[in-house]
Amino acid sequence: MSPEEFKRLGYALIDFIAEYRQGLGGLPVRAQVAPGAVRALFEPAPPQKGGGLDGVLERLRQLLPALTHWQSPHFFAWFPSNAPLSSVLADLVATGLGQNGITWQASPALTELEEVTADWLRQMFGLPEAFQGVIQDTASTGTLVALLVAREWASGFAQERGGLQALEKPLTVYTSEQAHSSVPKAALLAGFGRDNLRLIETDAQHALKPSALEAAIERDLAQGRKPCAVVATAGTTATLAFDPLEEIAELCQRYGLWLHVDAAMAGSALILPEERPRFAGIERAHSLVINPHKWLGVAFDCSLLYLRELEPLLRAMSTQPSYLRSTVEGAVRNYKDWGIPLGRRFRALKLWFALLDWGVEGLQARLRRDIGNARWLAEQVEATPGWALVAPPSLQTVCVRYDPGGLGPEALDRHTLDWVERVNRSGRAFLTPALLKGRWMVRVSIGAEPTERLHVEALWRLMRQEARRVEVET
Ligand SMILES: Cc1ncc(COP(=O)(O)O)c(C=O)c1O
Repeated sequence: MSPEEFKRLGYALIDFIAEYRQGLGGLPVRAQVAPGAVRALFEPAPPQKGGGLDGVLERLRQLLPALTHWQSPHFFAWFPSNAPLSSVLADLVATGLGQNGITWQASPALTELEEVTADWLRQMFGLPEAFQGVIQDTASTGTLVALLVAREWASGFAQERGGLQALEKPLTVYTSEQAHSSVPKAALLAGFGRDNLRLIETDAQHALKPSALEAAIERDLAQGRKPCAVVATAGTTATLAFDPLEEIAELCQRYGLWLHVDAAMAGSALILPEERPRFAGIERAHSLVINPHKWLGVAFDCSLLYLRELEPLLRAMSTQPSYLRSTVEGAVRNYKDWGIPLGRRFRALKLWFALLDWGVEGLQARLRRDIGNARWLAEQVEATPGWALVAPPSLQTVCVRYDPGGLGPEALDRHTLDWVERVNRSGRAFLTPALLKGRWMVRVSIGAEPTERLHVEALWRLMRQEARRVEVET
């Protein structure tokens, strides 16, 4: 493709994206296709001859029914994964410039803009200066990196000897039963083993119980294990519950454990000074992850991993092959030593563009709008007979159940799944049901960029209508 052809098709594709975004509110939110429908649109074998890009717009339009519209104002499922158009442009520039930040020298701009933007975000989050940040693809990777570092730190850098396999005492990891699945996954991938992973009980608010954590640590010590790390969650996936970080940090300090905080979703709220008290203690973590690619408004993928001390990370992750050395070692950052991959995309452009586009105040205003909308919905739920909040409303997440009365627990579960499926099938909104302590409930996760109060009001009407309709029909 020549630069001239790139301009012609590029402008047409920008138009296509802009029109898609303008028409989003009218599209059914959940994808409308059956499994296999997309595969059937494609020839079984790859194109043998080139020159086919001219028809690409038409082919892209065929994919639209197979998209779930995360950017729709009626999207209330899983979590907001905002992709503002400024981020779309940043991604275009990042790829257009064709950078790969394997070392500082491979792209000083990529490396140093990442330093600058990670530090801007640190300031916005109100984290102490000691925290230094690196962009990872996802929180899952950030948490895996943190547990790998914790493993090395707690074992006196066993990787330099016989590794985990030569340790006398098994290392143990603690997290709550409400932790995101990426946490147990990271513990298993880091080699701790399921037998050494403790899923700690939670309280009535679905937050980790420090007394249960302490008891588990004591039990492991008594049985000859070596407690290694706690992964606490600031904003759990199901209900956005906050583990008591201050008390957990105290225990970590007392017993010499690494503290990693998973604030992937809720960490965005640290930019609001009035919400910071719920994160009290986060400044005592050894490491933490926050996803700007969720609620904050930076397009996927962009997850920040912060570390309070760099030495264990660099010792665990550094590689020094001759072909990656340069004349400026010591004076620069080489982000290859701050995580797993060698190759790195120019993701910092997205953070920079987001801040140029919104400014800190614009981002704060959007988050406050979403919190206000969630409060409004929670008030309606509390004031309406049959409806209940199943967890305290937290930031932009509201967890509800409708009980028409007279149903046993299993029938109520079926009823809940029925009405939420009706909402989702209608295409007029998209919600996620989830199990909470063994029973189904429905999460309303507010915070897509275009979602305003009127969209939440429409959702609430739809929820009541579909829940009642199921009741009439059962
Ligand atoms: C609390 C929490 N941690 C981790 C994750 C995983 O995030 P990622 O997709 O960036 O790995 C999620 C996403 O749903 C989450 O809610």
